[in-house]
Formats: sequence, C-alpha cells, structure tokens
Amino acid sequence: MCGIFGCITKEGNVAPLIHTSLKRLEYRGYDSVGIATIHEGKIHVKKDQGKIDDVHKIWNLDDLPGSIGIGHTRWATHGAPLKINAHPHMDCTEQVAVIHNGIIENFSELKLELENNGHNFVSKTDTEVIAHLIEENLKKKPEIGLVNAVLEAVKRLSGSYAIAVISTSEPDKIICARNESPLVLGISENAIYCASDMPAFLPLTNKAVWINDGELVIISAKGYEIRRIDDFSVVTRKPEVIDWTPEMAIKQGYPHFMIKEIHEQPTTLRNTLRLQEHYLDLIATFLDRAREVFLVACGTSYHACLAASYMFSKLAFLATYPVYASEFIEQHGKSVNIDSTILAVSQSGETADTLAAVTCAQQRAATILGLTNVIGSTLTRVSRVYISQQSGPEIGVAATKTFTSQLSVLAQLALRLAKKRGKISQDEMDYISEKLEKLPDIVKEIIKTQEEKVKQLAKKYRDAKIFFFLGRGISTATAYEGRLKLMEIAYVPSLAFPAGESKHGPISLIEPGFPVIFICAKDDTHKTLIGNIMEMKARGASIIAIIEKDDEAIKALADDYIEVPKGIPEVLSPIPFVIPLQLLAYYLAVEKGLNPDMPRNLAKSVTVK
Ligand code: AGP
Repeated sequence: MCGIFGCITKEGNVAPLIHTSLKRLEYRGYDSVGIATIHEGKIHVKKDQGKIDDVHKIWNLDDLPGSIGIGHTRWATHGAPLKINAHPHMDCTEQVAVIHNGIIENFSELKLELENNGHNFVSKTDTEVIAHLIEENLKKKPEIGLVNAVLEAVKRLSGSYAIAVISTSEPDKIICARNESPLVLGISENAIYCASDMPAFLPLTNKAVWINDGELVIISAKGYEIRRIDDFSVVTRKPEVIDWTPEMAIKQGYPHFMIKEIHEQPTTLRNTLRLQEHYLDLIATFLDRAREVFLVACGTSYHACLAASYMFSKLAFLATYPVYASEFIEQHGKSVNIDSTILAVSQSGETADTLAAVTCAQQRAATILGLTNVIGSTLTRVSRVYISQQSGPEIGVAATKTFTSQLSVLAQLALRLAKKRGKISQDEMDYISEKLEKLPDIVKEIIKTQEEKVKQLAKKYRDAKIFFFLGRGISTATAYEGRLKLMEIAYVPSLAFPAGESKHGPISLIEPGFPVIFICAKDDTHKTLIGNIMEMKARGASIIAIIEKDDEAIKALADDYIEVPKGIPEVLSPIPFVIPLQLLAYYLAVEKGLNPDMPRNLAKSVTVK
C-alpha cells in the first residue's frame, strides 16, 4: 500500500503542496518518498529512501519549480526501499514520470519485452515498466498523444494499480488510471488534486470525485475528464461534499485502525495472491532440501507458524517445528546446525526475540529464510531469501490483516512444496489453489453477514470474566490467535489449548455460564470435537461455536454460533475462522470503552528482548 498524490494549481509552485499532502498519506507507506514537477519543458525530480521528514531535510522537497506535479510515499513490495526504487519512475528519455500504488502481476514479461526493444531499466520495481510502456507508445506513434499512450499502456497491465502520469510532451496534464487500488480527485477553486485517499487534500477542499475501477482521468487547469479504459466512453461524475474530519478520513470513516484493517483483509488477501513466483519457488526449494525446519516467531506470527506446521505436514509431508522465538536459543541453540533451516516469520521484521533466534542459528551455519511485511527490515537483510507478504502498513497494534496474509503466503509455500515433492495430485492442487483465490470474497462475505451477530455476542458476554478458546488440528492455531486478540485488546483473561486437552486438567475450571468458544472447521476433527463440546456442555458451559454454514449438528449444541461459508479446505480454515474472533475482540473492547488501537502495555513492534 503506497500513497500517490498529484496536483495542478493555477498559481504558485506545486511542490510544497505535494509535500504536505504526502505527509497526510504517510500512514499508507513511509520507507521512501519522491516528487516530480514539470517546469519549462523539463521534469524535475527529488526522491530518496527514508521517511518524508528525513528526505526533506536532505533534499528540501519544497524546492522544485512548476505548477504541475506528482508525489509518492512508498511501502515497498517490489525492490528494496532504496533511492533507486523510490517513485516517481521515469522512461529512458526522462520525458515521462509515473507514480503507482498496487502490484503489476505481469511486470516481468513486460520488462523483458521492453528491454528487448532497447529500454534501459534502472530500478527493481514493477512500476517502472509503466513509464517505459508509455514512452514506447509515444515513440511508435507520436501523434496519438499522452492520453492514448497512457490508455494503451494500462490496457497491457494485469494486477492492481492507481497511477498518475506527467510528461513534457503535454506539460499541462496529469493522467490517472485505476484498477483495484483507490483513487480520488479533490476539486478546489485554484487546483485539482488526485490522491490515493482523501486525507491528502481534505484540509484544502471537501469536494471529492471518486474514481472507479477501469477508469482513466485527464486532469488539466480547465478541470477533469473521466473516461472508461475499455471503450474510452465519457463518464460524467459530479464532486461530492465530504463531511469527514481529516482524522476520520485517515481511518476511511472507521472509528479505529483495527476495524479498518479487519475490513481491509479481502484486499490484502488479494495482494498476497500476487507474490513473486521466483521467491516462492526459491523458499520452497530451500525447505525441500532442509534436514530440519524450524518455524520461528512471536505472538500472532507464532500462531501463523503453528498453523503452517499443519499445512506443511498435511500437504507436503514435511515435518516442521514451530518454536517461540524467545525460547529458541534455550530449546535448540545447541542443536541447530548447518543442516537446519529457519523460516522466521515477523510482520515488522524487527522483533528482537525473533532476530536473536535468527542470529543464534546463523552463527551455527543454519539457513535463514524470512517472511515479513516490511522490505528493508532487519529480517530481510539477514535472510538468505525472504518473501514479502505485501499487506501494507498495519497501524493497529493488534495483528489482524497481517496474520491472514501470513497464513496465505505459508499455504502457498506448502502447496508449492507439496508439488515439488510429488505429494499432491494436480486435482487436489487445483482445488486448494482455487479455494485460496476465493478467500478474499469468502472473508468479505463473513464480515458482511456476521459482523452484526458478533457485535451482539460482544454485548451478551461483555461482563464475562474469562473465556476458553478450543479447537482441534489446525484450528488449535486459530484458537490460540483468538485468545491472544481478546486478551491484548479487551483485557479479558482467556485460555486456549487443543480441545482434547480439556479433560487433562482445564475442564476443572468450568462452571455454569462459563463461555467456551469452539472453532469447528468441518475437517477430520469435527466428530471428536462434538464430543468435546458435549463434555463442556454437560458441565454448564455456554457454548459459542464458529461453524461452517448449516452445520446443524453443532448448531443444536451451541448457545450461540457464527457461520462461515461452506467448503473451506482444512489447511486454509484458520483464515476465515479467525475473522469472527478478530471482530469479537474488537467489539468486546469497544463495549468496555477501551481503545483497540492503543492497548495498554503493548507496542506494535517489540524491539526489546
Ligand atoms: C499481535 O496482535 C501482537 N501485537 C504481537 O503478538 C505480535 O504478533 C508479535 O509481537 C510479533 O510481531 P512481529 O510479527 O512483527 O514479529
């Protein structure tokens, strides 16, 4: 997730305005920043890696001439957060500058085609291909003009994009286009803005024009014109008046970042389906060759590792060992060796316990692989190979969208490994891959149909003093994650363990009305789980079941139930089943008058051991 912004102003230089607007988009990404303006037939660019304030101190982003320009604040997905990969990106002739938010899936083949046509690329980004495509179109047929050159270029793209383009060939225009990534115009007396999100221009104007997928926009001092990309037909759309405060706008109208990020999961899951094949294959190869594999992480990322151990075992017949990073050195520090492989999972890539475990393993010649959300983080620098989960910045302290993204990436790795090892039929591979592709819509459906029920559940159990979270098989990981969310956000003491463990002790805690949450995926454990539910029910527990739709057997036993769509493969079940648990933690915290974004005693990235 990055922030794009462009502006044409009727008076004065545009750079200071772009700079302050990018600051308001910084929550969308902040590992590098750049601005490009046009003045006297030349494109002037300032860009560098680092946060906006730091780059401004070095380069003075306000000091760029011209009344038309574009700017970008980046969250790296393709190419490390280095100056060379910062946007705007230019073509060979430096007559075209492009900024982009999204993921171009087919950039590798486009890049190869353009390089074979003599184009020189300077960055490792997917975005740069757009600048060269436009250049190529203008070179082949100069008479088509900038609008058509951009139009033909975006028709070649597959994946998500919101772009803004300026060119010395027509220095009075900004051309924008969008597919999946957000784009909105701001209209004021003296200027027209294009941005990823309204906070960028809300202090300047409250008149906004939303741009939809498949639309291209021509912005000039005279105004804006919207066209459909497929048939170039004109779209008429008047500005709307926005009555949000800038604070509300940053949260897109949600009261907290946590609920915004829970609702963002259909989009972030779609983004994790656009990973770079090369890195998925490389990591799968390293896992295939390993003599032993440790999955090392903390907190929510550890729960992703726990779920992954079931995925790797059931799909690829590979035994992997999830280990709490804070215990790794004590537990395996002496035995880890050159034949060991560590897959470290860390959203921030900076968790001290995880990095300490990695350092210990590295010193004993183990192979280090990384899964993170932050390219350029320490974990990416110490890993032999890493893969980015591409979730965009997660502002809420509680990991929500980054958890489901981690699970999606780990499931893709397990599938690749299973294929590499010949442990899975093509039909089974296709079936699970197809379900993985459907997960964004499945999660969207759960939020849409169950959120209100979860809200009511939170009201009903707002005074509960403790909860159990129970599951079997891979759902044990989901149970652990649901418990962590509730504890860290709503401060409710909770226990989670494999449902089969209840009779070995914890069941002694059960009293009438004690809320027990069961994760009831329809997998091989379903039948036994019914027995576990009945043993709790017999002691007066209140049964709250997360079930597959129309699971009548468990509906008959539960006091309350939340339904997820049918037909979810066991290895993917933590992704849909965790959504109601994230929502429950959030709404219980809200019921208690707590701030879910800033839970007491916690930090987003735990960089101390
Ligand atoms: C999750 O909600 C917590 N905020 C915390 O447990 C977090 O998952 C843990 O600190 C690991 O962080 P990382 O993924 O950035 O390494």
